[in-house]
Parts: sequence; structure tokens; C-alpha cells
Amino acid sequence: MSGPNTSFDPKQVAALDGAAIDAMVEDATAAIAAASDLAELKGVRLAHAGDRSPLALANREIGALPPAAKAEAGKRVGQARGAIKQSLDSRQAELEAERDTRVLIEETVDVTLPVDRDPLGGRHPLTTLMERVADVFVSMGYDVVEGPEVEAEWVNFDALNIPPDHPARTMQDTFFVSSSDSGVVLRTHTSPIQIRTMLDRDPPIYVIAPGRVYRTDELDATHTPVFHQVEALAVDKGITMGDLRGTIDHFAEAMFGEGIRTRMRPSYFPFTEPSAEVDLQCFVCRGESVGDPDNPCRTCGSEGWIEWGGCGMVNPRVLQAVGIDPEVYRGFAFGMGVERTLMFRNGVSDMRDMVEGDVRFSLAFGLEA
Ligand code: PHE
Repeated sequence: MSGPNTSFDPKQVAALDGAAIDAMVEDATAAIAAASDLAELKGVRLAHAGDRSPLALANREIGALPPAAKAEAGKRVGQARGAIKQSLDSRQAELEAERDTRVLIEETVDVTLPVDRDPLGGRHPLTTLMERVADVFVSMGYDVVEGPEVEAEWVNFDALNIPPDHPARTMQDTFFVSSSDSGVVLRTHTSPIQIRTMLDRDPPIYVIAPGRVYRTDELDATHTPVFHQVEALAVDKGITMGDLRGTIDHFAEAMFGEGIRTRMRPSYFPFTEPSAEVDLQCFVCRGESVGDPDNPCRTCGSEGWIEWGGCGMVNPRVLQAVGIDPEVYRGFAFGMGVERTLMFRNGVSDMRDMVEGDVRFSLAFGLEA
């Protein structure tokens, strides 16, 4: 430190006094050390190293000094500025390092945390089951066909050999659209799709028709006024009941597992001749509960068989009604209730669960694509 310079006006150069400059450096150093974050340090930098800082103002005074004093004062101010700059830089580096560490911790993403999933709902098991049925038949070369749910009475009944006075017409309790002589009904089965297909296409015909049907039933554990059927129709030269039987067996195995058996019981449908009910061997007890009171089967009531659907050879009158020559072509058809199939297959005991639309019911079947 140099001693007081007596050759110039001390008032003018008070700012350049060694002690004053030391004090400025001390002030600055203390403020720098006290800055707790980068924003604060920025303020400190402005106050102690900026254009209007005490040191910068002191620097301006140098010009007013006599030449002899300029060099020393300049050196003193320069050293002070250098010291402050160094403190600032090292505090800056410290604070930046602290910030980086903090940011790394604060902004860490824990990829193992559970996320809030938006529930997507579940596809209805009837839908997935119908798609599965369609897949089985598509893999055998069948086409999937559809028809309207609001159907002409002629297509739903007459063309299927169910004339107006036929008991089957009242057996299938029909919903009429407007009056009962409107000629328009909600289809009572999927068999009208057979008619539409045969009117549309020439044989050979191999189609599967899944769809919604309507009957005036009360909703209870085993009935619903809106339900689903799948209908299969094959029309070709030389079709036999053996083809029908083989196709149903393949379908049954695809639905209920390998080795499951079916049987046909003589029955009557106006649109098939001969006609049969299709029974499915109980896939739970496979018939072993029959005559064994110690091992009752709840699924088939120890009958060994479960009624599954109807089938038969397409009645020649139906072929005639759609302009197909029954002397050349023959066909088979069968129809199954999808709800019934789901009940057997997945142990659903109450049909109401299928219509109430509670997503928890659907989700229990898994989110099948
Ligand atoms: N459509 C008939 C019914 O709903 C089922 C069936 C279809 C029967 C095809 C024979 C052939 O009862």
C-alpha cells in the first residue's frame, strides 16, 4: 500500500484511496460469498463489478489524477477489479454446480412409479365370442355376412317356409314395427340372412352370419328380449348331413376344446328338412356325471348333454323361394344362441349380466383384441 499522495486534491481522489479500495473489495467479497443463488449473484455482480459500481466510479477518477499518480492508482484499481472478478467467477462456478446437482435431483423422473391410466373400457365378451366364431368359419373358407335387424316379414318368415298361419310364427314371439300388419318386424332369428344371401349370391355359398335378434321375452336369468345368434349356411352340389355333422363337430371343438362330442336329436324347423337339435357333450363332466349321484354336474344337471342350437338340411321349398334349383343344389344350415354359448363356455349363470353393461363384467373376460 502506498502512503497518502499529497500532491493532488484529496477530495477528488478519495475514492482511489488504498483503504477505500480495500473496503470496496471487502464489501464485494462479502456480498459475493453471501449470494445464495445465481440470481442473487447476478445482482451482486451488477452492484460491485458493473458500470456503476463504486470501483467503476473510482476508476473514472483516475483520469483526473496527476500523471505521476495515475499508474499506481490504475494498478490498485486493476488489482481490485481482478480480485472481485475472480471471486465472482469462482462463486458463479460453485452456484452453477449446486444448481446442476439440485436440478438433477428435483427433475428426476421415477419411471417405476405407477401412472394414472385412463380406463379404456372392455370389449363385450359377446362381441369377442362372435368374432372368434367368425374366425373359425373364415378359416374354413366361409364369408361373414350381415343383414338388417328391421326385417321384412316375408324374409323373416314366409321365405323360410313359415306361412302366416304357421304355429312357429306365434312361437317366435315377434316384435312388430308399428302395427302387426305393417309387414316389418324386428328379426326373430338370423335365418333371414340365409334368404338375403341366397337372393344375392349364386351357389356355391358358404357363409356365417352373426347378429342380434329380438323376441318378446321378459328379461330374466335365462331370457333376454334382445340376444344374438350365429347362423351358418352352406349351399353346394352334393352337400350331405355328414357335412353338417362334421362342420358342427369342428365348430364345437374350436369353441369347447378338442374331443368334445355333439349329438343330433330329431326336431322340426320349417326351413330345414330333416331338422335336428344340436346337443353338446357337457364340456365340464364330459358325460361322466350321468348315473353317478356322488359326482353331480351343475353345468348339465348330470344329463351329460347341453342343448346348443338347431340345424338341418335346407328345405327344398326355401331353395325354391330364392330361385335355387333344389334338384341341383342342396344345403345345410345351423344356428346357435351366442348368449347360451357364452354361458356354457365361461360359466356365466345369469343372462342379465350380459345386458346390463357393467364394465366390470366385460373386464373379467380380459381385454381381448
Ligand atoms: N333359426 C332357428 C331358431 O332361431 C335356428 C336354426 C337355424 C335352425 C338354422 C335350423 C337351421 O330357432
